[in-house]
Amino acid sequence: MELESLEMDRTPAGEALPKKVFVKTYGCQMNVYDSQRMTDALAVDGYAPTEDAEEADLILLNTCHIREKAAEKVYSELGRLRKLKAARGSRETLIGVAGCVAQAEGQEIIRRAPMVDLVIGPQTYHRLPDVVRRARKGERVVETDYAIEDKFEHLPDARPAMVRSRGVTAFLTVQEGCDKFCTFCVVPYTRGSEVSRPVAQIVAEAEKLAAAGVRELTLLGQNVNAWHGEGADGREWGLGRLLFRLAEIPGLARLRYTTSHPRDMDDALIAAHRDLDKLMPYLHLPVQAGSDRILKAMNRRHTGHDYRRLVARIREARPDIAMSGDFIVGFPGETDTDFEETLKIVRDIGYAQAFSFKYSERPGTPGADRNDQVGEAVKDERLQRLQALLTEQQRAFSVGTVGRTIDLLVEKPGRQPGQRVGRSPWLQPVIVDEKAGEIGDIVSVRITRAESNSLFAEAV
Ligand code: 5AD
Ligand code: SF4
Repeated sequence: MELESLEMDRTPAGEALPKKVFVKTYGCQMNVYDSQRMTDALAVDGYAPTEDAEEADLILLNTCHIREKAAEKVYSELGRLRKLKAARGSRETLIGVAGCVAQAEGQEIIRRAPMVDLVIGPQTYHRLPDVVRRARKGERVVETDYAIEDKFEHLPDARPAMVRSRGVTAFLTVQEGCDKFCTFCVVPYTRGSEVSRPVAQIVAEAEKLAAAGVRELTLLGQNVNAWHGEGADGREWGLGRLLFRLAEIPGLARLRYTTSHPRDMDDALIAAHRDLDKLMPYLHLPVQAGSDRILKAMNRRHTGHDYRRLVARIREARPDIAMSGDFIVGFPGETDTDFEETLKIVRDIGYAQAFSFKYSERPGTPGADRNDQVGEAVKDERLQRLQALLTEQQRAFSVGTVGRTIDLLVEKPGRQPGQRVGRSPWLQPVIVDEKAGEIGDIVSVRITRAESNSLFAEAV
């Protein structure tokens, strides 16, 4: 594609000035990945990324709709951007809304927010350069179809130079959407039904990332362990088999995946945790609640007992695995007794890491229609108790690693001069002296102490 197209402004001497794009990302890791792919797609049209909204010719908000008043937050951010746009004078700033709020609100955004030039849903990012071109000609574009064509097929590859500047860890989306319809969740509506990317596409992208220096790859999907596809051998592969294939790629030293549903943890994936050294001993496996009555009302399609048994099998395969989870307190109809069951499952499992939230009504989901919503004060109190327990477990897990010798992937410079930061196999941030290793190295270190958010270690 020609770079010196209409997309460029020119200096008085006639040189092309590259346009700049500022992307603000809300929400999950898939949005982080999507923001990078959008940036890559726009780079082909001559847009350079910037961290400074004030110098941007295009501002994109990549939004999240999962909890709280996400849409309202976007509208107030748009209010701030309106001033910025007005202050910029002759150089035009385009403002776009992407992500799940864009998908959920669509045309409504154009109606409510006159400063918005384009609205684009997650299924149509491959059309972004075209949408931007149309917006620059004055059209207010809304693109929120569930595109029939595969967006990944049409997005340009990540560019090696850009990948390099992003470091030694990377995300790779292998699956998108969700067919589970948990009654609290908006994802099946904003991201559509489950789609798995083909093996060849995933392997090709992983090879490019590895060639650009990526050492650790995290496979992403709203229901990543539901991924399936036809392998090179003509057989149907699940995520476990795919992980084995990716482990063959030279340079890739560590693999992770997130987020998983308990119902989709099959034997092959559990076996991968036993047999594949490159698969890190960390698993994000949300249970959401402990009471069978609430799990049923949430349409989780498993009981507390099923989950406990599953975790026991995973731990048998990989005894040092660090468990991580998501929890919701105050789902409609949750009683004190139900909530006690949540605390009980947390005590039984023992989490190294967890995220916990107050239930929030998502318009259009079955949970929002129920007339037995839990009061805010009760939710607050439950969340506090749950978080106190989870924090205590997280702390116990960190302290338990002190004195151990572990493999550390050195990722980036630390905050203090002379330091570097990396990650333990269990995803904990670890701070070491810069002499411990170069960025991208995997080095053996001994954990010397645990602070609230990170561990400290020395080379051995
Ligand atoms: N209210 C509160 N938390 C929610 N989550 C999803 N939907 C809601 C909601 N309506 C949480 C779940 C999920 C995580 C990504 O967000 O715990 O696993
Ligand atoms: Fe938020 Fe879910 Fe959308 Fe990710 S997929 S941005 S978590 S609503």
